[in-house]
Amino acid sequence: MTTIARVEGRRIWDSRGRPTVEIDVTLADGSRGRGMAPAGASMGSGEALELRDGGERLGGYDVRRAVELANTEVRALLVGQPIADQAQLDALLVAADGTSARSRLGGNTLIAASLALLNARAASRGVPLWRMLQETENHSIPVPEIQIFGGGAHARGRCDIQDFLVVPCGALSYAEGLEWVAEVYACAGRRLARRGQLQGVADEGGYWPAFQHNEEGVEELTRAIEEAGFAAGGQVAIALDAAASQWRKDGQYRWQLESRDFTVAQLLDEYGRWLDRYPIVSIEDPLAEDDHDGMREFTRRFGGRIQVVGDDYLVTSAARIEQAARAGICNTVLIKPNQAGTVTETAAAVAAAKRVGYRFIVSARSGETEDATMVHLALGWGADGFKVGSFTRSERMAKWNEMLRIEESMGRRAGYRGAEPFLSRPAP
Ligand code: PGA
Ligand code: ZN
Repeated sequence: MTTIARVEGRRIWDSRGRPTVEIDVTLADGSRGRGMAPAGASMGSGEALELRDGGERLGGYDVRRAVELANTEVRALLVGQPIADQAQLDALLVAADGTSARSRLGGNTLIAASLALLNARAASRGVPLWRMLQETENHSIPVPEIQIFGGGAHARGRCDIQDFLVVPCGALSYAEGLEWVAEVYACAGRRLARRGQLQGVADEGGYWPAFQHNEEGVEELTRAIEEAGFAAGGQVAIALDAAASQWRKDGQYRWQLESRDFTVAQLLDEYGRWLDRYPIVSIEDPLAEDDHDGMREFTRRFGGRIQVVGDDYLVTSAARIEQAARAGICNTVLIKPNQAGTVTETAAAVAAAKRVGYRFIVSARSGETEDATMVHLALGWGADGFKVGSFTRSERMAKWNEMLRIEESMGRRAGYRGAEPFLSRPAP
């Protein structure tokens, strides 16, 4: 196996127009791999930290220090190393960082380097990354979760629930599922515009809606699915990301939009009412990241009916996944590579999810780039779902489209998970 010949870091710009880190790795055999760091807006407090310059310039978001570290320390560490072993290379990066929060080199520097190494190894082997990652041959495409309305931290708090998403679970192929979503997206936009409720698009490309209350989001989505000609639930179902840490203040849950406060019991009743009325198959972060009792109670009540997804709650941490499983909390893990810091730590979280029998969804961030590596991770690792944002803006479409090309390349062997993740729910 060949060795690493060059490491080049540079500053690029993400989908919010903010600086981010890109790293190119070139191997002695001429193969190249690129990694780009995405960025969250509603972040879990347990995530790997991003190294940002701070200060006044560029809102404090600049990454000159991180790029400098990539071109000095990271380069010195990696050049000359064999490319064969991702875990060993990631361990070198983690040891060089030396902090538990990844604050010295930065989670953004680490993930860009780690993804570049992974892509370079696949290029050197001459195989698509998804295929290189597979432990057993699996041609089943994960089901996409696609945002239609954006709220929360991605739309300046316009509504409290962060993501209103659709899942084309009744489609026969991934390609067909995307076509259905295109119809639903267009229809949802027409409906909002008709009522003067369309205020543009939020950070992930979903509509920025002028709703009066949060339930209107699920209500509207259900109608848009039906008006677009699909069976709500059977063909196209609904998923939510409540991102509840964002609207819990001083131990109290509060929906700002409708000036409504909840105790945990009241919030659970509200969710229960929604589950009875709308075709919801998945809720992410229904309670705050530190509300273990609330999350346990939510899982106990609803875990047999829907996916209970931990994002801020589990932060792509193998240890937290194991802990949650022991406590009967969540049944599905959101996997975000930059929450963990390196590919190897992300893979460890995936392995933990598989070990405890939880499903997993590989996810992009609200701040993204044209990079589509996460699609290969989702398929290669055998994810049940993948979540990329909405159905506009090229940092999103680059990923949906990459999976289309992969599906085509599989030909007749291609399968699609469709409703399968929602039919075989493990008991919490
Ligand atoms: P983030 O949001 O990328 O802004 O953290 C995405 C999510 O909460 O799933
Ligand atoms: Zn989330």
